[in-house]
Amino acid sequence: MTDAPTRAAAPVASPLDPERVSADFPILAVGPNTGRRLAYLDSAASAMKPSQVIDSLRATYESAYANVHRGVYAHAAAATENFEAAREAVRDLLNARSPREVIFTRGTTEAINLVAYSWGRTNLEAGDIVVTTELEHHSNLVPWQQACAATGAELRFIPVDDDGVIDVSGLDALAEGGRLRMVAVVHVSNSLGTHVPLDVIVPWAKSHDALVLVDGAQSVPHRSVDVQALGIDFLAFSGHKLMGPTGAGALWGREELLAEMPPWQFGGEMIRRVEYETSTFNDLPWKFEAGTPAIAEVTAMGAAIRYLQELGIDAVHQHEVEMTRYAHERLLDVPGLRVLGPELGVERGGVLSFLIEGTHPHDIATLLDTYDVNVRAGHHCTQPLMKRLGVHATARASVYAYTTREDIDRLIDGLAEVRRVFGLA
Ligand SMILES: Cc1ncc(COP(=O)(O)O)c(C=O)c1O
Repeated sequence: MTDAPTRAAAPVASPLDPERVSADFPILAVGPNTGRRLAYLDSAASAMKPSQVIDSLRATYESAYANVHRGVYAHAAAATENFEAAREAVRDLLNARSPREVIFTRGTTEAINLVAYSWGRTNLEAGDIVVTTELEHHSNLVPWQQACAATGAELRFIPVDDDGVIDVSGLDALAEGGRLRMVAVVHVSNSLGTHVPLDVIVPWAKSHDALVLVDGAQSVPHRSVDVQALGIDFLAFSGHKLMGPTGAGALWGREELLAEMPPWQFGGEMIRRVEYETSTFNDLPWKFEAGTPAIAEVTAMGAAIRYLQELGIDAVHQHEVEMTRYAHERLLDVPGLRVLGPELGVERGGVLSFLIEGTHPHDIATLLDTYDVNVRAGHHCTQPLMKRLGVHATARASVYAYTTREDIDRLIDGLAEVRRVFGLA
């Protein structure tokens, strides 16, 4: 391919050396408040970008830019080749059967909306059941609320216990009294790190001939995800959470299903032939990609995937497991601090939500920022889950390939300062 000249990822020993990885991320070098390294612990919201991705964006605009798919000249051909190479990168990342199964979207939200509109509005009707979980990000909840409201289908929930762990004991009751059609679940919770047991949920859904959509926003960037091995039907993820630019993500869907689904947006690119009165539509995947896509961003998402694969997705995962465990253990030693979600030792993604008695999460995050320690505070787009757990908001630290032990030590030091400032120490 005529891809942008990209730098090779810093060669890293296995297990991952986060200091070496960090050297690829210019933004981490100097924090805006202290001049020290930025202890960025908010990758669950959006990951930082390595030079390889930034270089790809620049190279597209400097040496391989034009609109894709229609041009006959050299730049248009190069831009198209690089754009479609990113589709192949996604196919490879997910072990999809064909690039025709990869639809580019703006991200997870748009990918789920595509299914809820195109499949949902066409296939759901009164008497049908859509099942999701009590953990969901709003983007895998609101589209299904809307699809059910539009079609008369009913939305039901797999519950969580007080630790935010999925309770599968009542699955069969969830399918009673109607036709189970769709099970749309998050893979790893962005608020609690809870790992959803797809090995139980997928066979259950399949025993009812239901489809399974997985929100992979917090899994695809952090662990190996094989859509064929999972036995699922759709998967959504966002490029910006796997070190790519914003504005690019993907929906993977089984080809037979996508082929039957109607387009959900109409206009250029998605058509084959247009008359004044009527039109026919393009083949997969372009049938679902109306209008000019995010050319440079999608291309750079391909560079991000290659970067991640060079680091080794399993090595990244192993590093995150270690960093999460270290952070969890250290947080539990902070007086008055409560970690929400699965207990220490239970499988979880690289996300730790916590509260400190006598402080507000926003105050925690604001004070930590003065030390260039970045955590998120709020409901994390999971308002119903917060209500279920009896809290309004949490502070949330999340890790990635570039997270070091020192970043976590600085979080703990910063929390000691928070306690001092609030008169708790
Ligand atoms: C689990 C989960 N699902 C969906 C989303 C939505 O992703 P996006 O805003 O990139 O569409 C997020 C983003 O935080 C998420 O964490």
